[in-house]
Amino acid sequence: MLDAEVRELMQPFVLSDYQVQEVYSRFCLEVARGLKRSTHPQANVKCFPTYVQDLPTGDEMGKYLALDLGGTNFRVLLVSLKGHHDATVDSQIYAVPKDLMVGPGVDLFDHIAGCLAKFVEKHDMKTAYLPLGFTFSFPCVQLGLKEGILVRWTKGFDCAGVEGEDVGRMLHEAIQRRGDADIAVVAILNDTTGTLMSCAHRNADCRVGVIVGTGCNACYVEDVENVDLLRADFKKTKRSVIVNAEWGAFGEGGQLDFVRTEYDREVDEKSLNRSEQLFEKMTAGMYLGNLVRLVLLRALERKLIFKQSSRRPEFASVLQRNEEVFETRYISEIEDDSFPEFASTRKIVKNLFGLEKASVEDCQTLRYICECVAKRAATLVAIGVSGLVNRTSNRRVIVGMDGSVYRYHPEFDAYMRQTLQKLVKEDKEWDIMLSEDGSGRGAALVAAVASKTK
Ligand code: BGC
Repeated sequence: MLDAEVRELMQPFVLSDYQVQEVYSRFCLEVARGLKRSTHPQANVKCFPTYVQDLPTGDEMGKYLALDLGGTNFRVLLVSLKGHHDATVDSQIYAVPKDLMVGPGVDLFDHIAGCLAKFVEKHDMKTAYLPLGFTFSFPCVQLGLKEGILVRWTKGFDCAGVEGEDVGRMLHEAIQRRGDADIAVVAILNDTTGTLMSCAHRNADCRVGVIVGTGCNACYVEDVENVDLLRADFKKTKRSVIVNAEWGAFGEGGQLDFVRTEYDREVDEKSLNRSEQLFEKMTAGMYLGNLVRLVLLRALERKLIFKQSSRRPEFASVLQRNEEVFETRYISEIEDDSFPEFASTRKIVKNLFGLEKASVEDCQTLRYICECVAKRAATLVAIGVSGLVNRTSNRRVIVGMDGSVYRYHPEFDAYMRQTLQKLVKEDKEWDIMLSEDGSGRGAALVAAVASKTK
């Protein structure tokens, strides 16, 4: 049985029906404000047009390179589109050293071009002409398919000299500086766009793409008439366009203050991008572990966990060591654990604190804390998804999803569905689908569709 005091501790994370409805209304309003030219500058859900106007048909063919920057890893991929909704992907992961994440931007792009050159060499493609799709998962104002101006860094990146610049051009210049491969950057896209495209490749009803990984964001298909910021020449021929919501920034106008907790405020205050990306800080993998860490510190202080142990102050100092000690993946592992053995939970507790055999009660308390933090994240994500699903003009809408939190948390999908059931309009038929390598396959598809359009 859970202690009533533990429930009380976690109460601020439990969203009431009223709060869910209220966040939903505020979110929908921000989306509408983001789309409108007159309110766009003040809106915090920016709704950037992506210039991707065609969804894949499934018969795309050809070889494409793709780059994926924006999560924990940087990847280079070779994607072969084979028609018949089929594709194969060959990829290589490269580390982005911490100092490059916050160093001069030119160094970051030189590193990327260097990895790309190694990859091309390894695959014996140095002389081939290769079109490249660049999945760059940060907020960008797109001026066309190949031009993306970085608005701000997120997720722990902070390289000087890139904000306000065209990242497509920076990549092109870095490739030129090396001069050892014939690669053309033909498209810049967000990972959410890649997710949507890769799911639409499999299922033609996909209209929303969502990432809940290191960061959190979504895109969706909107009618061109509603997208004021889309260049007029792009409105003439096509009915719709993918809009990158950049919902991570939701709440920066105070819209979420009525549900943010003291822990959310602390996460924000200690972050590299203070007062920014407030919705992301309640939903994304980069922050969820830290939220649990802060709640655990409070639980220790109030003697709500490890009550029997005299080593509580020592445990607290472990948690105070740094913001990453309680990794987000632990949340998934703990919620996936079986009762009453709690084998994974006990292992995590042992590794963290050196405590041999945590009691069943302690394991339950830890699990409840994780559950409340994850459930709130899933509920908030589902509020956003519902807002976007309800905006699309299709009756049947598939939501393409990706990201480590969604993928590995055992209940995230189920938590999301509970909220979607409450908020999605009754006349809609919806479902969620797991994306297969959106950042690779999706990037190749955007590049392919772009070449087709030409
Ligand atoms: C970025 C988005 C991205 C999301 C998921 C956020 O921090 O602003 O552009 O889609 O992370 O990677």
